[in-house]
Amino acid sequence: MDVEAGEKRRKVGDGKALPQPAWPWETRAFRTVWLVIACMAFPMLAFVSGVYKPPLVLIVGGYQGSSVQKQQSPRQPQPPPQFPLDDDDQQTIFYGVSDEPRDKYLGGLLAAGFDEDTCQSRYQSTMYRKPSPHKPSLYLLQKLRNYEQRHRRCAPYTAGYNSTLPFLNGGPAPEKETECKYVLWWPWSGLGNRILSLTSAFLYALLNDRVLLIDRGKDMSGLFCEPFPDTTWLLPPDFPITSFRFGGSDPLRYGALLSNKNISIDGTDGRPPPSLVYLHLPHYFDTDDMHFFCEPDQAVLKKVPWLLFSTNNYVVPGFFLNQEFEPELSRMFPEKETVFHHLGRYLFHPSNDVWGMITRYYRSYLAMARERVGIQIRVFSSKDAPFEVVSEQIINCTLKEGILPEVDGTTLTSGASAADPTKTKAVLITSLYSGYFEKLKDMYWEHPVAGGVTVSVHQPTHEERQQTDKESHDLKAWAEMYLLSLADVLVTSAQSTFGYVGQGLGGIRPWILVKPQKGMMPEPTCVREVSMEPCFHSPTTYICREKKNGDNANVVPFVTHCRDVSWGLKLVDRTK
Ligand SMILES: *[C@@H]1O[C@H](CO)[C@@H](O)[C@H](O)[C@H]1NC(C)=O
Ligand SMILES: *[C@@H]1O[C@H](CO)[C@@H](O)[C@H](O)[C@H]1NC(C)=O
Ligand SMILES: *[C@@H]1O[C@H](CO)[C@@H](O)[C@H](O)[C@H]1NC(C)=O
Ligand SMILES: [Mg+2]
Repeated sequence: MDVEAGEKRRKVGDGKALPQPAWPWETRAFRTVWLVIACMAFPMLAFVSGVYKPPLVLIVGGYQGSSVQKQQSPRQPQPPPQFPLDDDDQQTIFYGVSDEPRDKYLGGLLAAGFDEDTCQSRYQSTMYRKPSPHKPSLYLLQKLRNYEQRHRRCAPYTAGYNSTLPFLNGGPAPEKETECKYVLWWPWSGLGNRILSLTSAFLYALLNDRVLLIDRGKDMSGLFCEPFPDTTWLLPPDFPITSFRFGGSDPLRYGALLSNKNISIDGTDGRPPPSLVYLHLPHYFDTDDMHFFCEPDQAVLKKVPWLLFSTNNYVVPGFFLNQEFEPELSRMFPEKETVFHHLGRYLFHPSNDVWGMITRYYRSYLAMARERVGIQIRVFSSKDAPFEVVSEQIINCTLKEGILPEVDGTTLTSGASAADPTKTKAVLITSLYSGYFEKLKDMYWEHPVAGGVTVSVHQPTHEERQQTDKESHDLKAWAEMYLLSLADVLVTSAQSTFGYVGQGLGGIRPWILVKPQKGMMPEPTCVREVSMEPCFHSPTTYICREKKNGDNANVVPFVTHCRDVSWGLKLVDRTK
């Protein structure tokens, strides 16, 4: 499988005729056949023989007898591909830890040829993660391979980089575009926000034939592997800009350039834009800054060699509102809600230190369960969301949605049914506090569960408070986000970027714990998210095509309000 993935990648790189995406073992029919065989051939074997060497795939139940009739040659013509919008059927399949990666190159997303020892997670992720039902488009793969070449050509100390450095002075941009143009990103805000803003910056670079270079901050290189082969995305230590303390009052801020008429988007004043422009897109940006998302503004920015990209938000939905970008984006992402799913798995590979933490924890506490439930709890205000309310809310949500089994609250005695080894659930809780964990664990310790289900509850850390930019904290936070992404089912807190990263990497549409207000239990306690994409929390409210302020959720069908943040914007494929 891996050889063929590499094969396909090279063809994409050469730009030659592209093979059809569906390999036989990826078709639903083939999977059914394989599952049926697996069921007949390995009854319980995997479970009995331990978790580390189970067969490739084992179904736990829930497959219907009728699927046997669907057996057919995997090479028969297939109906046009249907996006697996509903991921629910995925949950009946159990994937143990495998000895070999199941989809080493993530459907061609990853280039071959990286040194495997310096970044074990890159090619090992699918030993732990089930294969994604969402395949990257061939066009996206082509864009990524082109990007990688461009990055190598324009990386620090190349001729292209050296000749572009003088333009960091912010003087007039050259008439003729420079060969290498850059997006500079630097870490700001919590780790979840950083991952989302960095993904946004990368997509912007992909769309505009730019190269993304990042400031390593305190811990970026300790958390993540290099994402691009044979080069680096880290700014060199001798990069002329050492302090990225740009702010709203900076004269090179795009919004200020516009309002001071230092930049002309209608081409009337004949002056070139500055060669360095600061894109100020934080949650408190103003209407002038929001013009960044509009078509004429992007046309001017094309000429600027150095763009400093500053946001703590997932601004990607804003790119889909741009009519120049949208056709290209739709070719890259025919399934629009997979943007973060694909780019996140392309960019963010845990460093070996973090990978060690992830895999040790996974093998010790989560691997042997037939189903893994991730519960991510983030409380923004203990006044609005006191402990008693949130812990009740979690229990109400997980029981009502059938995510966790009911207990018999009237007795401490063991129930009549014996434990059924096919009904084991491991619950992974991530929270700054240990109270929710204690409560859930005690509930399943003190009372029997109907139907032989066994529930184990685990929480890796409880740091008591968020500590931005502290390496040991961020290592654990990153490990926890990744562990969440290995779950089968997720319950996440509204408005938490930590949860978005887990759901996006995992390709999971979570249940969202509705934010309690004024200490009141919300009703319903949780709702199912409409898409696995992160939410753009502080979206642009300038509607480019109408040249006025308004609600950008009404402009195109695939950008709507988020369920967890009612004013936010997100990408969806389902239309309500
Ligand atoms: C770019 O500049 C660096 C240091 O200024 C130098 O070491 C390097 O050789 C230059 N690269 C090229 C391709 O000339
Ligand atoms: C903006 O324009 C004014 C007047 O034309 C000029 O003095 C100033 O230097 C310009 N600022 C920038 C950042 O280009
Ligand atoms: C908890 O769930 C039940 C359904 O199982 C529902 O009827 C009830 O209203 C919920 N309670 C609260 C406080 O939301
Ligand atoms: Mg809409």
